Amino acid sequence: MCGIVGYIGHREAYPVIIKGLKRLEYRGYDSAGVVLYDGNDLKLSKTKGKVSDLEARAQEEISLTGTIGIGHTRWATHGVPNDVNSHPHFSNSGNLVIVHNGIIENYEPLKKELISRGYTFKSDTDTEVLVNLIEDVKKKDNLKLGKAVQIALNQVVGAYAIAVFDRERPNEIVAARLGSPLAIGIGKDEFFVASDASPFIEYTSNAIYLEDEEMAVIRLHKPMKIRKIKDDSLVDPYVQELQMNLEQIEKNGYDHFMLKEIYEQPAVIKDTYRGRLHANEGLIKMAGIEDNLQKFLNADRILIVACGTSWHAGLVAEYIFEEFTRIPVEVEYASEFRYRNPIINANDVVIAISQSGETADTLAAIKLAKEHGAFVFGVCNVVGSSISRETHAGAYTHAGPEIGVASTKAFTTQITVLTLIALRLASAKGTLSNSAYHRYLQELEIMPEKVAEALEVNDKVQAIAEIYKDAPNCLYLGRGYNFPVALEGALKLKEISYIHAEGYPAAEMKHGPIALIDEQMPVVVIAQKQEHYDKIVSNIQEIKSRSGKIIAVVTSGDTQVRELADHVIEIPSTVDALSPLLTTIPLQLLSYHIAVMRGCNVDQPRNLAKSVTVE
Ligand code: G6P
Repeated sequence: MCGIVGYIGHREAYPVIIKGLKRLEYRGYDSAGVVLYDGNDLKLSKTKGKVSDLEARAQEEISLTGTIGIGHTRWATHGVPNDVNSHPHFSNSGNLVIVHNGIIENYEPLKKELISRGYTFKSDTDTEVLVNLIEDVKKKDNLKLGKAVQIALNQVVGAYAIAVFDRERPNEIVAARLGSPLAIGIGKDEFFVASDASPFIEYTSNAIYLEDEEMAVIRLHKPMKIRKIKDDSLVDPYVQELQMNLEQIEKNGYDHFMLKEIYEQPAVIKDTYRGRLHANEGLIKMAGIEDNLQKFLNADRILIVACGTSWHAGLVAEYIFEEFTRIPVEVEYASEFRYRNPIINANDVVIAISQSGETADTLAAIKLAKEHGAFVFGVCNVVGSSISRETHAGAYTHAGPEIGVASTKAFTTQITVLTLIALRLASAKGTLSNSAYHRYLQELEIMPEKVAEALEVNDKVQAIAEIYKDAPNCLYLGRGYNFPVALEGALKLKEISYIHAEGYPAAEMKHGPIALIDEQMPVVVIAQKQEHYDKIVSNIQEIKSRSGKIIAVVTSGDTQVRELADHVIEIPSTVDALSPLLTTIPLQLLSYHIAVMRGCNVDQPRNLAKSVTVE
C-alpha cells in the first residue's frame, strides 16, 4: 500500500531515499519516484516499475544532488501503474510536491470543485487532488504550508500518510497520518520520514511514530511541532528507541528474504516463547494475559479477526482454543466481519491477529468490536503498529521484521503465541489434564529443534518442486489442526508462483475437488500419524485410484502412506495440536522452490503488497 520516504538534513538525500524505498518495496512495487531539492530546483524522476528502474531513470534524467527530498514506491489504488500516476505529484503551480500512502475517498467532489476553479490534472490519482487542494487552501489565505495541509486534511475523507514539501519553504517537510503508518527518524541536524523505521535504521535509533490524525512540521534546526489535525492542539512528541537492527532487514547471504525468513523459524519461535514459557515449572507468564485473565475466563466466546495468512493462524487457534479451553471460538475474515453487522457482545473477547499491525480491514474490525464493548486483544508482530495501539491489550510475536511478501515466520510465531495463550487459559480453567498440559509445554519448548529438523527436508522438497513446477493446478488437503495448514500451503503457492491452488479439508474432497483429480493433478496431503490418520489414508487411496499425484507430508518413520504416495516428505513427530508448526515448513519450501524455478519474483509477487492499508 505504498511506501514513502523523506529526508531533510546535511546528507545527499538521493541515496538515503533510494535505499529507503528499496526497504519499503514490500509495501508496493508497481512504480516509484523521487523529488530532490538542491536549493534552486525541484528535480523529479518517476517511472512505472521498481525502485531499481527508478534508479536507472533518475541517473539519466536529473542531477542527483540535494539535501532535501521525498520518494515513493507505489501499489496502485487510483489509476493504473504508469509513469504519470507515479508519485511524487506536483501542485499546479509547481511549488508543492507530495508523496501519499492511502486513499482519499472523496477525491471526486474535491476534484470537480478544483477543476471548476481552474485547476488541471495530469494523473488519475487522488493524490494529485490532495496536493492541489493544499495549494488552493494555501493560496486563498496566503498560509504557511503546515496550516494549509491541516485545513486541507480536515476536508478529506479516507486514509493517508503523506510527506509534503514546498519550494517556497525549503527548510521543512510536513508529514501527517490517518490510517496509514508514518515514522519520523530524528538524527543530529537531520530528519527522516518513512512508512516504517527501516529506511533510517542505520542513521538513528530515535523515532516518533505519528498517531492517527496527527501531523508534524519538521524543520531543520528547530524543535519539531506535532499537532492534532482536527483541533490544532499540540502533542508532546514521544521519542522511542528502536529495537530493529540492520542485520534483521538484510538478506544475510540468502537469495531471498522469504528463504531467510523460513530458516529463521527455529530462532524466532524461541524468541516468541522466551520469558513466557517456563516448561520446568509448568508456567506460562504473559503480562497481557495475566492483567486481563478474568476477561478471558469470563468470555462467552472468543472471536478471532484477521486477514490472509493471519486468518489461517486464527483457524489453527480455533482448534487449539476449543480443545484446550472449551471456550467457543469463531474465526472471521476481518473484511467480512466489519461490514456484516455481526453480533458482538460485551462478554466477547476479540483476538485480532496481524503481522504488520496495519491491515485496514483488521483495524476496522477492532474498532467495531470496541464500539460494541468487547475486550480486544492484539497479536501483532510489528511493535508500535496501529493495531497494537488500538487494542486493549496484546502479545507481540517477536518474529522480527518480515520482508518477504509471502508470510512465513509470522504464521508460525502467531501460532506459538496463540498456543501459549490457550495453555495459560487452560491451566486457569483446569480444562486440560495435568499430564497433557505439561506435555504441551515440553513439546513447545523443544519445537525450535524440531522445526530445524523439519527444515532438513529442503533438498527433497526442491527435487519434488522440479517435477511439479509446471503444474497448472495443485490441491492441498489436511484434516483437523492441519486443515488450516492446507489452506496456507495453497495460499503460499498461489501468491508466489501464480499456480492455481486450493486447500481443502481432506474429507471434503469427495464433495467437489475429487472431480479435478487426474494424472496431471498434484495433491499435497498432510498425513501425520495423528488422530485421524486412518481417515487420511483412505483419502489418499481415493486420490490414488483416480491417478492423482500424491505428495504426502508424513510423520518420520511412516510406512503406510509411503506405499501409496508418489513422494513422501518426513517431518518429526509431535503432539497433534502443535503439528502445524512443523507441517507448514515443507509447504513453505515447496512454494518457494517452485516460484524460483518458474522465474517468479519470490519476495515481491505481482499485484500483492505486504501491508494492506486500504480496504
Ligand atoms: C497481505 C499480505 C499477507 C498477509 C495479509 C494480512 O495480504 O500479503 O501475507 O497475510 O496481508 O496481513 P497482516 O499484516 O494483517 O497479517
